[in-house]
Amino acid sequence: MNTQRILIAEDDADLRDLLQDDLEDAGYETKLATDGRAAHRLLEDANEWFDLLLTDVRMPGLTGKELLSAAREMRSEIPVIVITAFGSVEDAVGMVKAGAYEYLTKPFESSQLLPLIERALAETAAQREQVRMRRVLPQTPPRLIGASPTMQELFKLIARAARGTSNVLITGESGTGKELVARSIHEMSDRKGAFVPVNCAAIPADLIESELFGHTGQAFTGAKQARAGLFESAEGGTLFLDEIGELPLPMQPKLLRVLQEGKVRRVGADAEKEFDVRVIAATNRDLEKEMRESRFREDLYWRLNVIHLHIAPLRERPFDIPLLVEHFLRKVTRGQQQFAVTPETLAVLTAYSWPGNARELENAIERAVALADGTMLLPSDLPERIRSSGQTAHLLAQARGQRLTLRELERETF
Ligand SMILES: Nc1ncnc2c1ncn2[C@@H]1O[C@H](COP(=O)(O)OP(=O)(O)OP(=O)(O)O)[C@@H](O)[C@H]1O
Ligand SMILES: [Mg+2]
Repeated sequence: MNTQRILIAEDDADLRDLLQDDLEDAGYETKLATDGRAAHRLLEDANEWFDLLLTDVRMPGLTGKELLSAAREMRSEIPVIVITAFGSVEDAVGMVKAGAYEYLTKPFESSQLLPLIERALAETAAQREQVRMRRVLPQTPPRLIGASPTMQELFKLIARAARGTSNVLITGESGTGKELVARSIHEMSDRKGAFVPVNCAAIPADLIESELFGHTGQAFTGAKQARAGLFESAEGGTLFLDEIGELPLPMQPKLLRVLQEGKVRRVGADAEKEFDVRVIAATNRDLEKEMRESRFREDLYWRLNVIHLHIAPLRERPFDIPLLVEHFLRKVTRGQQQFAVTPETLAVLTAYSWPGNARELENAIERAVALADGTMLLPSDLPERIRSSGQTAHLLAQARGQRLTLRELERETF
């Protein structure tokens, strides 16, 4: 269970202690601030986080009203509950109008306060969940995440590709999710056969042909038994030719012929066999450049590229980062533990340029979960290169200086 943390801003020591006892008895963690300024400092602190703010109206230094507006700016996601003496009810009402969740008049019982806190926390969580649900396209497998316009467009193309059997070429930088997209197409299609991934870069050049097409018992020295190739293993399913850009030149016309004719011949065999295989290829290379430099055959390119899906690098769709963070947090912990990131951590993550794309983000989250003290991931749990990228430092400084909200920070970044 993730313990919820409540910040209490109250200048009356007796009431403060009472609130602390009640809330801790109810299972909450509390942090005490003896006046508005102290509470403000805690809200500002990048290493602190709170799920709810409970504040008095009249306090020396900084009033509840001022604290509320600072909280709305700095931590707009935290619900605020106001406790007020009879004489300042009007101020409390004004605070609710200004965005506080609710107010409670002193003296009150903990039986009044606790349900209110519970409701505020539940509603905030529900709102977050709603926002999240809206951003996952229902008909794609839930594992493929993306809210940015380019990803939404990609989801449509995936759905369309899944309905047919044309060859698909997926391009995108390393770690952008090419294999995941290929799997999604297969899973969304009604193909009953297997999804068979082949990494063209990992198979020695002299073995590729027999790996893909199979061989007879006498095909070559060392081939004692006949073996089916990967094309046959993918019968009725999908063959995923990963890193197609690495396919050796001599192998390229052979693959082209097989794709054109819809038939394979095992190495060493006479007979050809028809196959029903959907071919999806992927590469992080620029194939058009490879073609110009005669490393990739143009005819094969056009044969593979009937449907072209391009996945934009993560730095061009920072809007997806918060969703991916949430997704990877669940994935890494297999839903066992509820980790979360502070707004500052998210700001650092959204400002970084992610040369390794989603894979690098997934690794960073996994590492942060392993390093974190509690269930809240702080900027200090991230690798140095991510924390210290120039843009990040600049944005954080700006955020602190100008008290930007996370939303404004996002706007600045995007
Ligand atoms: N949109 C996404 N939603 C959820 N998970 C994603 C998404 N994109 C990538 N991932 C995850 O990121 C990791 C890398 O993705 P994947 O292996 O598909 O990338 P790739 O483009 O094939 O990379 P490479 O070119 O290095 O082979 C995987 O764990 C994958 O599940
Ligand atoms: Mg891959």
